[in-house]
Amino acid sequence: MKSIVVALLIVASSPTLAAEPGVADYKHLGVASCATSVCHGKLAPAPGKHVALNEYQTWTREDRHAQAYRTLELAESKRIAANLGLPSATTAKICLDCHADNIPSDKRGPKFQVSDGIGCEACHGGSEKWIESHAAESVTHKDNVARGMYPSEQPLKRAQLCLGCHLGTKDRFATHAIMGAGHPRLSFELEAYTANQPAHYVVDADYDQRKGRIEGMNLWLTGQIESSRRMLTLLQTDMFSSGSMFPELAFYDCHSCHHPMDKIRWNALRAGAGIKPGTVRLQTQNLIVLQAVTETFEPAALTELVGLTNGLIRAGQRDRATVTSAAKALLDWVEKRDALTRRQFSAADVNAMRKTLVKYGATDKAGDYAAAEQIVLGLESLSYSLGDRDKKKAALDALYNAVKNDTAFSPQQFASAAANAQRAF
Ligand code: HEC
Ligand code: HEC
Ligand code: HEC
Ligand code: HEC
Repeated sequence: MKSIVVALLIVASSPTLAAEPGVADYKHLGVASCATSVCHGKLAPAPGKHVALNEYQTWTREDRHAQAYRTLELAESKRIAANLGLPSATTAKICLDCHADNIPSDKRGPKFQVSDGIGCEACHGGSEKWIESHAAESVTHKDNVARGMYPSEQPLKRAQLCLGCHLGTKDRFATHAIMGAGHPRLSFELEAYTANQPAHYVVDADYDQRKGRIEGMNLWLTGQIESSRRMLTLLQTDMFSSGSMFPELAFYDCHSCHHPMDKIRWNALRAGAGIKPGTVRLQTQNLIVLQAVTETFEPAALTELVGLTNGLIRAGQRDRATVTSAAKALLDWVEKRDALTRRQFSAADVNAMRKTLVKYGATDKAGDYAAAEQIVLGLESLSYSLGDRDKKKAALDALYNAVKNDTAFSPQQFASAAANAQRAF
């Protein structure tokens, strides 16, 4: 316990970035500055305006981000803080960095309150330079961005913003110590989480005209690529291992250690990859999804990607230097696919993508819970973007059922649910 406390204190005292680059460049004036009834605090959507102006209502009533600071006051958080030896969750920088808009004090305007949780400016950037100007009809989104508004409509920018807290950065990370103290496991899929937030804006023809059209497939793919990139980058830092007996366990597949012993998960695919039974595996869920993407759109490159992924898993059982070089090789491979996120996909392409995902589900590829979860989230997101989610509801419900509870997850049951669902896709 003592060593954990020391490690957290070091994190707390170092000058770290609590926000995504671009979010804290200017002063944050606080939710109260956005929420008045003449601004974004209307009770119902305002007719005839570009934006609904009731965003505050959606955020305060339905968006978990509005509760994120209050979560730190709950008994659950008190327990996590006590287990970590922290005086209080509401004052610990490590908690506030993800559960509030924890910007430096010189960036806080007079109405700013950290207890507002993850407020408007935590995502839209400090409004110091655009608060006065942004409401005028003649002002374009580009003008606002030039004055410090964060371009959260751009897929990559959005992925970086959300993943900064939902996966972490080198400055804020939910370590295994935090998990072991009782923090829930983090999972993320950009398209699904964007929908679940829930959206406080409407993407219609007017929106597309002002901000550009972004297809669900591109958003989903950007999330997968950016998650992989982020993992592979962090794996090459001291955060993964600074020389102690065990590396940072949060980089490993949680369920490779945490699952009941009576359900045997060993499978032929792992044997083929040169992985021995009873080994801890690095998290690869987003890389498995990238394999499915590659199989669909660049089949000639699949063998190479599978080889690199298996190399990373084997490296994760050896030492830091081997992990660094395996992660670097994979990152180089992923970087070269960046253009894929901006490609135009036809409905037939998205359909083909779904077919590969559900096929992966029906094989050992989804033998780990986190991979199965990504397959289900991806299938649902792509079904929304194809507009046939209601028609696929029965198949999607069966798949959700198979991943509903990670403790009870059975790879065999999931594979057979996916095999059944193959007919629907
Ligand atoms: C400053 C950190 C931060 C940023 C940035 C952030 N989130 Fe979150 N998000 C959180 C925290 C913390 C919670 C949990 C809040 C709680 O329940 O107390 C959360 C909860 C959520 C939930 C609810 C999850 C559930 O299990 O119900 C969704 C959905 C979500 N975030 C989506 C997003 C999306 C999409 C983005 C990017 C546009 C984003 N978040 C950006 C920190 C962040
Ligand atoms: C790297 C960012 C990060 C850090 C650091 C972090 N959290 Fe979280 N926390 C999240 C996110 C994201 C969620 C929502 C997870 C989800 O539902 O997908 C969350 C969820 C929670 C929940 C569950 C909330 C709910 O709605 O059920 C609690 C409790 C919690 N965090 C407490 C803490 C405490 C206490 C600390 C400090 C020791 C902390 N968190 C540090 C990102 C973080
Ligand atoms: C967790 C991140 C997050 C938080 C918190 C958040 N937003 Fe947003 N907001 C988004 C995303 C993502 C979009 C969609 C992309 C875009 O248009 O920038 C968006 C879009 C918008 C839009 C644009 C609508 C349009 O048609 O152009 C407005 C206005 C808006 N938000 C206002 C607010 C207000 C006001 C608050 C606080 C009460 C808030 N947002 C809190 C993420 C967030
Ligand atoms: C290398 C194996 C390993 C991996 C990988 C691993 N854990 Fe753990 N976890 C442990 C061990 C060992 C403990 C300590 C259990 C104890 O104290 O009884 C633990 C404890 C926990 C606890 C507290 C359980 C308790 O009963 O006190 C939670 C929650 C947890 N881990 C979550 C996670 C999450 C989430 C991940 C993935 C991000 C993860 N673990 C990855 C081995 C692992």
